Amino acid sequence: MSSEHRVVIVGGCGHVGLPLGLVLASRGAHVTLLDIDSVKVEKVNRGLMPFKEEGAPELLRSVVGTRLDATTDQATLREADAVITVVGTPVDRHLNPTVHELYKNVDGLLKHMKEGTLLVLRSTVYPGVTKLVYDHILRQGRKIYIAFCPERIAEGRALEELVELPQIVAAFEPAAMERASQLFSLITPRIIELPPLEAELAKLFTNSWRYLNFAVSNQFYLLAESYSLNFYRIYEAVTKDYPRMQSFARPGFAAGPCLLKDTLQLAAFSGNSFFMGHAAMLINEGLPNFIVSRLRPLGLSERRVAILGMAFKGDSDDSRDSLSYKLRNLLEVEAREVLCTDPYVMDSSLLPLEESMKRADIIILGAPHSVYRNLTFGTDKTVIDVWNFWKGKQ
Ligand SMILES: NC(=O)c1ccc[n+]([C@@H]2O[C@H](COP(=O)([O-])OP(=O)(O)OC[C@H]3O[C@@H](n4cnc5c(N)ncnc54)[C@H](O)[C@@H]3O)[C@@H](O)[C@H]2O)c1
Repeated sequence: MSSEHRVVIVGGCGHVGLPLGLVLASRGAHVTLLDIDSVKVEKVNRGLMPFKEEGAPELLRSVVGTRLDATTDQATLREADAVITVVGTPVDRHLNPTVHELYKNVDGLLKHMKEGTLLVLRSTVYPGVTKLVYDHILRQGRKIYIAFCPERIAEGRALEELVELPQIVAAFEPAAMERASQLFSLITPRIIELPPLEAELAKLFTNSWRYLNFAVSNQFYLLAESYSLNFYRIYEAVTKDYPRMQSFARPGFAAGPCLLKDTLQLAAFSGNSFFMGHAAMLINEGLPNFIVSRLRPLGLSERRVAILGMAFKGDSDDSRDSLSYKLRNLLEVEAREVLCTDPYVMDSSLLPLEESMKRADIIILGAPHSVYRNLTFGTDKTVIDVWNFWKGKQ
């Protein structure tokens, strides 16, 4: 794809769309970020990131107003050679896709797109959705090239990973495959072509694999701790100089907007026979309950508990589906008071770190933010640190 090509990213001011837009713009494309959130659009156009992402503020400043802009105006779709949509597939509360919503969203885009445009589905979709979209567009007699190219970045490392990871590209027609491969060749020479259904499963396998890995570690953690054994002594012993155990993840909250959702989408697709996925959910989602059950003997109704870190993972400002909030809700039923703090999450109910630490009898690490690394605690405090982040300080 040559530098004059124009790309519109739908949902472009979010965690997937914006990093992708920045990288494409820095590699010569002209990118417009289309988003329904006017506050984010305005922020991006002023050169400000709406969320934390390593290296993004500098890159945004270098391309905004020249190779990249943001808008809420759908008319911009008319200018595009390639439209990439990162807006999630609408699913019902059982995570099955709601096709009418899906078609409505696609029709909303098609109304503005010119013939011959490449339409890339980039969000994680329920298996079969690319085919539904392809057939839906064919039925309308429109000449639109459809591809599915799943995003595999981890938030916070998006810019580095976008150019380092191979890109999976899938399409039903060779011409669409070719167009999508050319587009993603802007960011990497490593393109992996797959049939769409296999690419959809590839993405769900990736996230479920990670979720299951965390579940294994969390299960082992629960097992060792429930016998009052030192999990991390075992962990260090089995991983030290032993290559086959290097993939043993560390325990911790496995949360966020993707891992659980995608594991459950795979479970729905399997006709509810993805037993390991459901088991992983019980273990990972059960970790906050386990923490509360371990604290109960301390007389929670008399104790003030602080949760340090409300984001779903360390060094992030993203609190979507964070297990720290689940922990807070559980503790609010039983503890005298729950004091929550986070340096990055925008939430008016949060308190300053110093106040939370000073007033709490029990301190729980909710997200291992680097800024917490050198905290010290009085001997009168009980500290719960599932990550072993403060090794030796408990
Ligand atoms: N966050 C990740 O690390 C990650 C990684 C891989 C895949 N995904 C998948 O990517 C998809 C998007 O995730 P995200 O984290 O970027 O979400 P996000 O909420 O950060 O971003 C979505 C953006 O889309 C906008 N939007 C919503 N509806 C719109 C519409 N109809 N038209 C235009 N804009 C609209 C929102 O305002 C928001 O800015 C999800 O399907 C997710 O599963 C996310």
